Amino acid sequence: MKKITALMITLIMAMALVLTACGGKKDSDSGEPAQGSSVAPAPQTSGIDYMALVNKLNPLPDGWEEALETVHFTNTVGDDVEVEKKAYDAYLELKAELEKEGIYVDLDSARRSVADQERIMNDFIEKYGQDYAFKTVAKPGYSEHHTGLALNLYLIIDGQDIVENEDMVQYPEIWAKIHAKLADHGFILRYLEGREHLTGYGYEPWHIRYIDDVATAKEIMEKDITLEEYLGTVKSADVTIELGDSDYYTEEELMEAVVQIKCKFASFSGCELHSIRYAGDETNLETNIARMNAIVGEDKYAECAEFLMDFHTPPEGSDTLKPDEEYKDYQWWLAREADGGLELVTWGY
Ligand code: DAL
Repeated sequence: MKKITALMITLIMAMALVLTACGGKKDSDSGEPAQGSSVAPAPQTSGIDYMALVNKLNPLPDGWEEALETVHFTNTVGDDVEVEKKAYDAYLELKAELEKEGIYVDLDSARRSVADQERIMNDFIEKYGQDYAFKTVAKPGYSEHHTGLALNLYLIIDGQDIVENEDMVQYPEIWAKIHAKLADHGFILRYLEGREHLTGYGYEPWHIRYIDDVATAKEIMEKDITLEEYLGTVKSADVTIELGDSDYYTEEELMEAVVQIKCKFASFSGCELHSIRYAGDETNLETNIARMNAIVGEDKYAECAEFLMDFHTPPEGSDTLKPDEEYKDYQWWLAREADGGLELVTWGY
């Protein structure tokens, strides 16, 4: 029996335990360090907010795509990469500086459309299952890559493209040198180690974000903080998470369940989350498990877990939620197969 001790975590905008990174990486045996190909000059970009926050709770701002100006180039593995125009110029400067130190990089992925993200999400669901996919890939519409300002680097070492996440993390000393130069070119590191509970994603040494402001980038990097912390949004989204005791689920499993709940809650437009708590092992009953199986229409699940949430709705309400109302003990039900992980099945009163 797994047992967790009593635990109450109050985290600022506690969002996730996510261990690995976003994907779409490919193997490649192509060789030489890439030079960004030349691009046609584009008019001055205007109309996008280079400090925009896009995360699990904040979708791509309205009107972004209309205002966004991008350039395309072909990377060393032959992929077309699209990047916001100023971010691309800054990236080329960063790349040139790194090359002076013998560090070669290229871009695996930068701007993604919502359809691109949908494809990546579906690939991940197919390959690794929904649980893992939701923990590593942003929901379409909620990926910072939509902005064109998020750039995924890969390493080129001795002429070899190192593009797989698990390979790239083997070079912490190279990443440290890259990170030290980001701010000089208006970039920050977006998904910091040990800050999963703030960003919603695990450490991604390759995921850099252009903010078009060297002084602010320096402040963020020197303070070693996330964009969420810098912008102060974490304050308005303080969330209390109570996991309590469980003989069935580990602390990690319960936190992963919280991540799934928060991902879904992100679609509750304008609602402010206050707390999520595990309802306890006593709800893992045959009757509830049978209800989960009835919902999915097959005899699939062996155990279930209930969480309760308090949240506040926006003044305009929604199709299903009353305006300006504090919803208490809103139910979230997850279930798992005998050897599987918890999956979100249903929610509501
Ligand atoms: N890997 C990042 C979180 C994304 O999918 O946008």
